[in-house]
Amino acid sequence: MTSLLGLLQTSKKKEGILGKYREIAFRKFLIGSVYGECIMAHEKPWWQRTSIYQIYPRSYRDSNGDGIGDIPGIIEKLDYIHDMGFETIWISPFYASPQEDWGYDVSGYRDIAPEYGSLRDVEHLINEVHRRGMKVLFDLVLNHTSIQHPWFTESCSGRDNPKSDWYIWRDGAGANRPPNNWKAIPGGSGWHFHPGRGQWYYASFLPFQPDLNYRNLAVKDEMFKVVKYWLDKGVDGFRLDIFHAIYKADHFKNNPFHWSFMPKDDKYGYFTEWKYTISQPETIGLAHELRKLLDSYSPQRFMIGEIFGEDKLIRQYLGDNAEGMHAIFLWKMMDYRFQASFFWDVLNHYETWYPAPFQPVLVLGNHDSRRWIDRIAGSFQKAKLISLLQLTARGIPVVYYGEEIGLPEGELPAKNALDPVGRRYSWIPKWLLDVLGIYTNRDNCRTPMVWSDSPQGGFTEENADPWLPLSADPRSANVAAQADQPNSLLNWYKSVLNLRQNSSALRDGSLILLSRQLAQNGLLGFFRQSKDEKIGVLINFSNRPVEVDLKASRILLQTGTASLSGSKVNLASLSCAVIEMLDS
Ligand code: NOJ
Repeated sequence: MTSLLGLLQTSKKKEGILGKYREIAFRKFLIGSVYGECIMAHEKPWWQRTSIYQIYPRSYRDSNGDGIGDIPGIIEKLDYIHDMGFETIWISPFYASPQEDWGYDVSGYRDIAPEYGSLRDVEHLINEVHRRGMKVLFDLVLNHTSIQHPWFTESCSGRDNPKSDWYIWRDGAGANRPPNNWKAIPGGSGWHFHPGRGQWYYASFLPFQPDLNYRNLAVKDEMFKVVKYWLDKGVDGFRLDIFHAIYKADHFKNNPFHWSFMPKDDKYGYFTEWKYTISQPETIGLAHELRKLLDSYSPQRFMIGEIFGEDKLIRQYLGDNAEGMHAIFLWKMMDYRFQASFFWDVLNHYETWYPAPFQPVLVLGNHDSRRWIDRIAGSFQKAKLISLLQLTARGIPVVYYGEEIGLPEGELPAKNALDPVGRRYSWIPKWLLDVLGIYTNRDNCRTPMVWSDSPQGGFTEENADPWLPLSADPRSANVAAQADQPNSLLNWYKSVLNLRQNSSALRDGSLILLSRQLAQNGLLGFFRQSKDEKIGVLINFSNRPVEVDLKASRILLQTGTASLSGSKVNLASLSCAVIEMLDS
C-alpha cells in the first residue's frame, strides 16, 4: 500500500534537497492541520513572505510581432515565472498613455494602452496569475497624469471649469518668473507656464507630467475610485510611483537654501532643501488612509511605495505599529560594492531600522537604474553570490526581469534616447555622469528580454523591429539555453527560490548576522531562524578560501566549492553555501 508519506519519500529521492524541503513543509502542514496549527504556519500575511518579480511590459515578450511587449506576452510567460519560484509579479504601467515616459504618463487610469492589449487581456492576466497561486501588483501613478489626460486639457481651458483646481496652478512671481523656487526631481524648475490659462502648473517630474492637486477632495476621491476599480477587478495590490511627492505645502513658500547641488535621498539638491515639496504630513496620512482602504478587502491586498527619504521618515510612512504603507523600497543595495562588509552594513542597518513586523524590501535593480550585473563586469559567479543574499536575507526580494539570466546593460547612446531623461541630459558626457554616479539614459536597462537564440532573442518575431535593440547577443545569453545548463544563473535562481519557498526559516525567520569582523575578512554570514528550523547562509566574497565552525549539519545548496569537515564549513573563493544547522 502506498502511504502519503511513502509518496513523499519517493519524491524526496527524485528531487534531492528540494524534495526534502517539500517533505518538511508538507509534514508541517499535516501536523499543523491535525493540531489546529495550520494558521500558525501561515500566520504572517502573504506579502511578508513573498518574492516579487518586476516586469517592464514593453520589453518582456511581444506576442503579436509589432516589436512591443504586451499583456498576452506576459501571460505566455507566467509558467516560466512560476516555475522559477516567484510568487508575485509587479508590472510597470500599461494604462492608456502617450508614452512620453513609457507609461508613467497616464492619460486614462481605467484604460489599457492598445499596444499592450485590452481590458479583457488584463482581466485574463489577473485570472491566469491567480490560477497559478500567484499574486499580481499593478503600478499606480497617483502623483501626476500625462499632459494629455482629458482632466488636464479641461483644467487648462480656463480658471473656472470644473477641473480648474485639479492640478497645482499658480500665478507667476512676475513677468516670466515662476511662482517660487521649487525644483523638479530630475532638475530644473518644477513650474511650467501655460499660455492658454496664463498661469504656471507644477510638475514634480518632467514637464509633461503635471502633478494632481490632492488638496482638492474631488481629485483624491477620484483616485481612490481608481484604486477600488482595480481592487474590484481582483488585483492583489500596487506599486506606488513617487508617492512621497504627492502633497506640496499649501503656503507655497520658497524651499530653503541647501549647499548641495547633487540630489540626495530626495531631501535636497540643486541648492535647495526640498522641505515643502516632498513628504508633507498629508502624504504620510494618505499612506495610512490607503492602507485602510486596502485592508477593507479580502483576500488581503498589499502596497509597496516608491518613497525616498531617511529611515525615520520611512518609518512614519510604515506607521508605528506597521499600520501604514505595507512596505517601502529600500535603496541601499542599489549602489553596492562587491564586499562582504558592504552588505553586512546594509543588512545590519535594515535589521536596526526595520525589525519585525516591518519587512525590508531587498532590491538591486529596476527600470530606472543601471543593471547591477554591470557593476561586477558581467560575472555570473558573483551574481550568484549577490542573488543568494537578496533571496535569503530577511525581507521581500524584488527582482527585475532579466536579472535571472544576467541580461547585460545596453550601450545605447543618449543622443537619440527614447527615454526622456536620457535625452534631456544627453549633452553631459557619459564619462562625467559615470564619475558623478548619475544614471540618465534608462533605455539601457530596459532592453528586451532574451528568450532564445533566434535573431530577436524570441522577444519578438524574427523580422520585426523591437522597440529597443537587444543588449545581449541572443546566442550567448538566453532563457532556453540557460534552462538546459544545470549550473546556469537561471537555474541558480530557481534552486534558491525553491529552497526559500519551502523553508519557514528563510521565509519567516529572524535574521542573526555573524560578526562584522568575519565580513571584514570577506565572509558574509547570517542565520535565519524560525520556530522549527535554523539555516545558515555563508558567502565568501573574498579571493581566499575561508573556514568557519558553525555546527553545520549539512549543505543544502552551494555554488563554487563548499564542503563540510565535521561541523566546519570550508568555502573556496567566490563560493557560497546554504547550510542546515545542527541545532535546528
Ligand atoms: C518613477 C518611475 O520609476 C520612473 O520610471 C518614472 O519616470 C517617474 N517615477 C515618473 O513617474
